[in-house]
Amino acid sequence: MIKNKPIGVFDSGIGGLTVVRAMLKRLPHENIVYFGDTARVPYGSKSPQVVREYAEDITKFLISKDVKMIVIACNTVSAVALDVVQKLTRVPVVGVIIPGAEAAAAATKKKRIGVIGTAGTIASNAYSNALKMIDPELQVHSRACPLLVPLVEEGWLNHAATEMIAKEYLFPLMTEKIDTLVLGCTHYPLLKDVITRVTRGMATLIDSGEATAGRVADVLQEHDIVNPSREHPNVQFFVSDTPSKFTEIGERFLGRKLGVVKRVMVG
Ligand code: DGL
Repeated sequence: MIKNKPIGVFDSGIGGLTVVRAMLKRLPHENIVYFGDTARVPYGSKSPQVVREYAEDITKFLISKDVKMIVIACNTVSAVALDVVQKLTRVPVVGVIIPGAEAAAAATKKKRIGVIGTAGTIASNAYSNALKMIDPELQVHSRACPLLVPLVEEGWLNHAATEMIAKEYLFPLMTEKIDTLVLGCTHYPLLKDVITRVTRGMATLIDSGEATAGRVADVLQEHDIVNPSREHPNVQFFVSDTPSKFTEIGERFLGRKLGVVKRVMVG
C-alpha cells in the first residue's frame, strides 16, 4: 500500500527537524524517514556543485527506503538542487522555497519583503526569483546571515550576543521598510523571539517549514496518498555522523524525544 509508505525528509543536518516538527503537527499520522547529513554539514557555505552532489547521494538513500514523497527541508538544497532530486525520482518532491515564497507574498501588505538565509541560499536568488514570479511588483531585500546557524546549534536562542548579531544583520532590511520577513533557513524558526524583538514586531515572520507542511498536505491529497491509518506514526532518523550530538540538540529542534537514531553512510 503506497499510502502507508513513509515520507522522506532530508536536511544538511539537524535543522530540518523544524520542518519535521511542523509536519508532525499538520500531518500527525504520516510515517517519516528523516536523513540529516551531519558529517558534511554545513551546506550553506559550500558551492552549488557540491551541494548538488550531496543531494544526489541522499535522494538515492531515500529512494532505497521506498518513500512515497520527498521533502527537501534544507533551504540551501531547495535553492540549488531541487531539479537534481526531481530528476532522480518519480515520487512528488517538495522543497521549502516555493511554499515560503507563497506564504510571504500572501502576507505582505506593502509588497516589501525581506529574506534571510545562508550564503548559498541568498547567492542563488531562489527566494527572490520565486517571489517575483508570484508578483513582479514585490520588492525583495535579501541578506545572508551565516553566523546565526552556529549560534542556534550552540543553543544561544535568547543570548545577548545572538541579539546583537541579529540586529547587525536585520537593521539594513528594516531600513528598507519591509513588512514581511522570510526565515529562509531551517535554524531561524528557533530565533523567532530574538528576531521579533530586533524587528520590534514590525515584520510578519514567515516560517518556511510551516508553509511547507501545508504544501505537503496538499500534495498528498492531490496524489491520493494520504495515510489512512490513525496509528501513532513511525518516525525514523538517520544521520551520517555518530548520532549522540544529533540526538541531544535534535530534541530542542523537534520539541520532543527522538527515539532511536541510526548512522548510515551515503555517497
Ligand atoms: N539547513 C541549512 C539551510 O536551511 C542550514 C544549515 C547549513 O548551512 O547546512 O539552508
